Amino acid sequence: MSRNNRLFMLSMILLLLSGCGTRVIDGQQVDKKDKIIIKFSHVVEENTPKGLAAIRFANLVRERSKGIIEVQVFPNSQLFKDGEEFEALSRGDVQMIAPTTSKVAQLFPQWQIWDLPYLFDDLDSVHQIMDGPLGKTLLDQLHQKNMKGLAMWDNGFKHLTNNDHPITKTGDLKGLTFRIMSQGILEEQFHSFGAATLYLPFNDVYQSLEEGRAQGQENTISNIYTKNFDQVQSYLTLSQHGFMGYAVMVNEDFWNQLPAQARELLEETMAEVTQWERDIAQKLNEEQLRELQKRNRIKIYTLNNEERNIWQEDFALVYAKFAQKSGTDFLNDVKESLELTKSP
Ligand code: LMR
Repeated sequence: MSRNNRLFMLSMILLLLSGCGTRVIDGQQVDKKDKIIIKFSHVVEENTPKGLAAIRFANLVRERSKGIIEVQVFPNSQLFKDGEEFEALSRGDVQMIAPTTSKVAQLFPQWQIWDLPYLFDDLDSVHQIMDGPLGKTLLDQLHQKNMKGLAMWDNGFKHLTNNDHPITKTGDLKGLTFRIMSQGILEEQFHSFGAATLYLPFNDVYQSLEEGRAQGQENTISNIYTKNFDQVQSYLTLSQHGFMGYAVMVNEDFWNQLPAQARELLEETMAEVTQWERDIAQKLNEEQLRELQKRNRIKIYTLNNEERNIWQEDFALVYAKFAQKSGTDFLNDVKESLELTKSP
């Protein structure tokens, strides 16, 4: 059967599935070559917000399409490291990836808005931008590289770890080398305080900390806990200085040739999983912080409000860098939108 005929047949099957509850088609009866296979590659452990949401998405899609659409999840950089993922998506070696917002900023500098320290007070402010017109503007940029953004997922706010000394003020960053996940604003954030940076993919972080090539790193609790960074780091500062989320995206050519019913099923399921992912991200980060406290391998320092305000003022330097690279308009729009919801 030709590819077009196969797609026509799939679209008929999907139409029957979505149109009437009485006609049940068992996925097992669908010839393997007639299935839609979506390889979903990511770099974190399964027991993380992204890891669990990817699995949930795959399960729901399989159930709802009666096995016709199969999402195969490859966690933990099994297939590709970050840095390789964009290329793999564009070659069609995988069809779906969910890199951090910071990593998307390597392609589209305005995405560095998510990296700006202390721009977002809480997750509600983050979601307000993600789900509004400014979030859409960012997702629309992906078209330029033949990628289609399906959703934005959370991980949470980042904190600092290092193995040299407790960090309670920004001056304590001086002289340390921090691993960063992306260049630009994140580099600037450390360089402004006399710290050096090392740009590395996620699956090389543990070893670089163990070997002392980097003394510290910034990440969410979920990533610190699941990657056992507390085995190679002595101090954790709960600084909550920057947000880290994910852009879930597909190869656009692949997307466009899918039957309309398949796209609809995938989009609806993705929207539902996104709400679930946001809840689970918050819960996991809280739970895993308690686990880190219980494990007691890393000394935890929490910035108080006064210290947090000082950090926020210190980090303001970094905003000028963003404005230089991406212009002030976008930043002002985001700030304005955040202010609007704060006013009574
Ligand atoms: C990291 O590279 O530190 C994280 O972005 C990994 C991830 O995808 O959460």
